Amino acid sequence: MSGRRVLVLNGPNLGRLGVREPEIYGHTTHEELAQACRTWGEELGLEVDVRQTDSESELVAWLHEAADTRTPVVLNAAAFTHYSYALRDALAQVQATTVEVHLSNPAARESFRHNSVIAGVVTGSISGFGIESYSLALRAVAARATDA
Ligand code: DQA
Repeated sequence: MSGRRVLVLNGPNLGRLGVREPEIYGHTTHEELAQACRTWGEELGLEVDVRQTDSESELVAWLHEAADTRTPVVLNAAAFTHYSYALRDALAQVQATTVEVHLSNPAARESFRHNSVIAGVVTGSISGFGIESYSLALRAVAARATDA
């Protein structure tokens, strides 16, 4: 089934899911997460395009694409969450629904993770539920699909 398109964008180090600090981020690989997102999307009538990059400029370009095509975005900006004003400014241009997601709960971790510079420009944020955070985010996008 193909439905409304959604971009799921994953930032730096998330390509290493499964081997990266599994006690924090779990054992699911990025490819398995991408497949799960596509499956959840199908169930919700969404066509999910999952991308990962370690590059800030590539994320900015993808957000410009979302802004120009009015495409909803689920974004795990990873460490960029905490300091990238460039991502914040790119995200602020997206008119459709935007969801900040995190696998872990950054507020319960080191103090440098407590601040999100993107939190103020997204529709909402979901953290701390492992890969389920993405399922919840896609649900939120689907629920707002008509008015996004
Ligand atoms: C993360 C949390 C960030 O603080 C961290 O830099 C990441 C992953 C998460 O999904 O829990 O790379 O965004």
